[in-house]
Amino acid sequence: MKKIAVLTSGGDAPGMNAAVRAIVRKGIYEGFEVYGINYGFAGLVSGDIRKLGIHDVSDIVGRGGTFLYSARYPEFAKEEGQLKGIEQLKKYGIDSLVVIGGDGSYKGAVALAKHGFPTVGIPGTIDNDIAGTDFTIGFDTAINTVLEALDRIRDTATSHVRTFIVEVMGRNAGDIALWAGVGSGAEQIIIPEHRFDIDKIVSEIEAGRNRGKKHTIIVLAEGVMSGEKFGKLLQEKDPNYQTRISVLGHMQRGGAPTARDRVLASLMGAKAIDLLKKDIGGVCVGIQHGEITYGNIIETLENNKHTPALNLYQLNKEISY
Ligand code: F6P
Repeated sequence: MKKIAVLTSGGDAPGMNAAVRAIVRKGIYEGFEVYGINYGFAGLVSGDIRKLGIHDVSDIVGRGGTFLYSARYPEFAKEEGQLKGIEQLKKYGIDSLVVIGGDGSYKGAVALAKHGFPTVGIPGTIDNDIAGTDFTIGFDTAINTVLEALDRIRDTATSHVRTFIVEVMGRNAGDIALWAGVGSGAEQIIIPEHRFDIDKIVSEIEAGRNRGKKHTIIVLAEGVMSGEKFGKLLQEKDPNYQTRISVLGHMQRGGAPTARDRVLASLMGAKAIDLLKKDIGGVCVGIQHGEITYGNIIETLENNKHTPALNLYQLNKEISY
């Protein structure tokens, strides 16, 4: 009988539970034995491993966070930790592993694949910054959360005729800022992938004010700089600006996953089982042009880079000014 394990690693993302549920349920459906590893790679190395049954994943499809817990564990970059992890898996007779997580977690999965241990990566992060997929699990929920916050902030911005700088997460990627910015009609979106010109921004805000615009929302991706620093840049240009800074922080990461994230997670989890059933390891799952896909995880990470939908940046310039 095939024995597989699953772990969630790095920053939690809404929909991770739905992915684990799909792996456990479909795995058992296919006749596998499925194990859960607590606290990501940290739990792998320490051997925090338990067998999961179909009831262990009851009622989690709609819950945010990860019931397997997560951890950032940079120590897994060292070969010693990787070999210890493989040793733990072998102790339980586990022959393959599914890793759900973001950039750092994929690096751990690649290391295991390079050691010849069959591993499948599933992209789970709110940042949407993983190569080999158009969307990651958790991104849709996060942008909807940000969107709601932006709609609320707009009310206050209008009432007080203020400029708001809203700093959003995304690590080095601008996807959250782009999608939530376009969806909320933000006047300015500042992302790491596109250079910004502070003088141009100031003159665009002025032009809007002169046309009678009451509010200005600037959505700033954290990968560019902090909201505070950006606020100082604006104030240097015009000390009279009524500027307020809002840092959305970790509220962007929690909460019940959207239908889209739940379904994406279920499809990706099931795909991982299909691949392992065919003894295909060393791969990562994705969604590309609406199709669930997979590719060699080492090649995908080495030869591809995630790029945000920069057409959204241009679109925003054309429709929100
Ligand atoms: O990767 C998800 C993410 O929320 C990033 O957007 C953010 O930069 C980072 O994690 C924050 O990490 P932590 O929760 O460890 O502070």
